[in-house]
Amino acid sequence: MTTPSDIQAEVANLSTEELIVRVQALKKELNAIILAHYYTLPEIQQVADIVGDSLALARAAEKNTADVIVFAGVYFMAETAKIINPDKLVLMPDPGAGCPLADSCAEEEFRAFRAGHPDAIAITYINSTAAIKALSDITCTSSNAEHIIRQIPPEQKIIFGPDRNLGAYLVKKLNREMILWQGFCYVHDAFSEAYMIQACAMYPGAELIAHPECREEVLRHAAFVGSTAALLDYTVKSPSQSYIVATEPGIIYEMERRSPGKTFIPAPKDPSNPRSVCKQMKQNTLDKLYLAMLNRSPEITVDATLREEALKSIRKMLEMSA
Ligand code: 13P
Ligand code: SF4
Repeated sequence: MTTPSDIQAEVANLSTEELIVRVQALKKELNAIILAHYYTLPEIQQVADIVGDSLALARAAEKNTADVIVFAGVYFMAETAKIINPDKLVLMPDPGAGCPLADSCAEEEFRAFRAGHPDAIAITYINSTAAIKALSDITCTSSNAEHIIRQIPPEQKIIFGPDRNLGAYLVKKLNREMILWQGFCYVHDAFSEAYMIQACAMYPGAELIAHPECREEVLRHAAFVGSTAALLDYTVKSPSQSYIVATEPGIIYEMERRSPGKTFIPAPKDPSNPRSVCKQMKQNTLDKLYLAMLNRSPEITVDATLREEALKSIRKMLEMSA
């Protein structure tokens, strides 16, 4: 009899090419769609049907005819896909791949935070748990936060969380006060001003582009600030031939694919805090993705009541950013 550990051992010996062929075959057999974030490994991006930023992936989860969604990203992304599609099987190669930013915002603390500002609405970054989405009025991503906040009457107080850097960026850009939760993404928050200035001096012809999860001291030096998809789009359209990319370096795979002649330099790490790669996104390996499809497990599940509550703020986001 073949045991799960026999299968794992067999899979460990397969080449990337063989795994890709097997994944493609299972995709047809299961009527599955593979959604992958830009920060995943290149081989995962190669087998994915849709590679996108958080908003594009939430939209793809909403509009597809597949029976099975395989989500190569972090937990909150697969959870959001399940909330949108309660009747579909949602699989994740490694459900242990959580987003530390999302996990830093605990339900009871956020509930108390909200209670401290009873006249404020809560606009919450999609990088949050279902419980936090359920406590929020509107979900947003870095692609649509600005557009959504502009639709809120100026006299309405807003709580924004959990990312303090994205929040501070929006406060400055929109000239609008918001009450910020003090969470941060360890990947983006690790970039420092001194090393960014050094990189700009080292590559004087390159444009610095940055994700708004970076600190303000970094953003102030950037020629362009935007979500992962906006940064990608910028590099395709701008005439510049080289870029210093201050976000997770996984995006460089797609930037190079879309603009073959251009040069992309990962923003330098600060040696005192060298954490500018998202370990959790890289937990999505091809063998784990194949095994998840083969075993139809690990499956993502969400409690029905929680799902209904969290869906309201996700639906509001999709309506307001349509
Ligand atoms: P976007 O995909 O919305 O740019 O967010 C970046 C990120 O850190 C995802 O976890
Ligand atoms: Fe979370 Fe940051 Fe990783 Fe995105 S890059 S999943 S925000 S830890």
